Amino acid sequence: MLSRREKAGNMAGKDVETREVLIRRAEIDKRVRAVARQITRDFKGERVHLIGVLKGACIFLSDLVREINLESSIDFIAVSSYGRGKESSGQVRVLKDLDSSIAGLNVILVEDILDTGLTLSYLLRVLRQRRPKTLRVAALLDKPSRRLKPVEANYVGFKIPNEFVVGYGLDYAERFRNLKDVYVLHLPEDGTH
Ligand code: IMP
Repeated sequence: MLSRREKAGNMAGKDVETREVLIRRAEIDKRVRAVARQITRDFKGERVHLIGVLKGACIFLSDLVREINLESSIDFIAVSSYGRGKESSGQVRVLKDLDSSIAGLNVILVEDILDTGLTLSYLLRVLRQRRPKTLRVAALLDKPSRRLKPVEANYVGFKIPNEFVVGYGLDYAERFRNLKDVYVLHLPEDGTH
């Protein structure tokens, strides 16, 4: 799947970071439509309430909700766990809570990527206490080899290897969220290029 490698920054010389396309926009579109079709089938005749985990999931959620052929509503929650770097601190806390109650609703928690599972297991615990009718998880990307907590998503866009990825909402220190494709990011200190 890896193909084009390009410079991600403007710096010259060996300190420059590079990125390679991992998943192209057309493939993402296709999988987002397939996941939306599955959700539409699973909740036939019912309403779904999508909760996006800010900020990474905002682009996935925007595309997903428009492909779901059901009465839908959306909300967002923000949690901290990663700070500015590539490694999780392991500490999760809510930075912005939901705007409204989820009691009795078919909730689909929308995540950009499922990595160690620390964020998701914390969020599932918090949301379950609020008595939704059903609680499912849709994750665009899944890095199963990194899991520290035994959590899974009900809907997964792509399983990917243990690489740090950016684009389509995913960031590195708040950069690259606007890229249309998903890229593997190589930093100079990785020693991988
Ligand atoms: P977890 O708690 O380790 O499962 O991590 C979940 C969060 O970490 C995601 O919602 C992302 O915001 C962030 N994250 C994990 N892996 C990556 C990555 O490869 N690129 C960008 N963000 C990531």
